[in-house]
Amino acid sequence: MTQTVGGHGRDIPFSDSDFRAISDLAQAEFGLNLAESKKPLVYSRLSKRLKARELDSFPDYLALLKRSEENNERLELISALTTNVTSFFRENHHFEMLRDHGFPSMFDRLKESGRGRIWSAGCSSGQEPYSIAMTLLNKMPDAARRNVKILATDIDPKIIARARQGIYPKEEATGISELFQKNFTHKTEHNELGMSDNLREIITFAELNLMSDWPFNGPFDAIFCRNVAIYFNQETQQRLWSRFCEMLVPGGFLFIGHSERVTGAATRELTGVGITSYRKTGSGSRLAS
Ligand SMILES: C[S@@+](CC[C@H](N)C(=O)[O-])C[C@H]1O[C@@H](n2cnc3c(N)ncnc32)[C@H](O)[C@@H]1O
Repeated sequence: MTQTVGGHGRDIPFSDSDFRAISDLAQAEFGLNLAESKKPLVYSRLSKRLKARELDSFPDYLALLKRSEENNERLELISALTTNVTSFFRENHHFEMLRDHGFPSMFDRLKESGRGRIWSAGCSSGQEPYSIAMTLLNKMPDAARRNVKILATDIDPKIIARARQGIYPKEEATGISELFQKNFTHKTEHNELGMSDNLREIITFAELNLMSDWPFNGPFDAIFCRNVAIYFNQETQQRLWSRFCEMLVPGGFLFIGHSERVTGAATRELTGVGITSYRKTGSGSRLAS
C-alpha cells in the first residue's frame, strides 16, 4: 500500500518498502521498534521533516539520513518517532521506594565506598532527575559534599538542553508537593517554575544513545529507565536490562515504566520488589518489612 501526503503542492508517496527502510534504520541506530501499525503515525510525523528539508520523496530522505554529516537530521528523526512526555514525580511509588529502601541501602554503602550514584536514563526534559534530586536532598541536604550524585542522560540534545535549564511552565508545579516547591523551586522573572541551584549542583546532564557504548562504569545504586524501552523490540530490551543489571551495585534498584517488564537473562539477578521496581540480588536485596 502506498500513502501520499501533500508537500510543495504535490503528493509524497510512502510505500511499504519506504516504511521498512525507515524502520530498519530506526532499529539499527536507536533500537526503535516500529510496528507495521505505526505506519500512518510515521508517515504523518516524517512528512513534516521532508517538508522542512524541502524533499519530495522518502528515498531521498533516507539517502540524506545515511550521510555521516546528517547527525542532526537523525536526531530529528528520533524526536519525530518518540515522545518526550514526562512530569514531576510521575509514578510516585518509585520515588517512595527510592526514599524508603533505595536511600537507606545507598547511605549504608556510602560509608564504605564514599560515593552514591543514581542514573536517570532517558530523562527527557529533566522532571525525572529533578524529582529524584528533591527526594534525595530532602533526606540528605549535603549530598553534594558527600559525593552523592545523579547522572541524567537522553539521546536528544535539544531536550537535554531544556533539562539543563531547569525552567518549566508554572502549571507543572502541581506535581510537586508544597514542601518541595518551597524548598527546591523558585519563581523566575517570567513567572515560570525554576529549579534551585542545589538540585542542579547534584545532577550531571549528558547526551547518550542507550544503544551505544556507555562511557562510564558506574556502579549505580539505582537506575531509572522509564517509558524508554517501550520503543525497543524485545531483544533490544533484554540486552538493555542485562546492561543495566551489570551497572547496578548488589542490592541496587531498577525502576522501569508502567507498561514495561524485565524479561530475559536479567531476571536471574533482578527480582521484582514492587510495581515495575526491581532489585539486584546481593547484600540486603530483600526489602525490610
Ligand atoms: C517518554 S520519555 C520518558 C521520560 C521519563 N523517563 C519519564 O518516564 O517520564 C522517553 C525519552 O526516551 C528518549 N529516548 C528514546 N530512545 C532513546 C535511546 N535510544 N537512547 C536514549 N534515550 C532515548 C527520548 O528522547 C525521550 O526523551
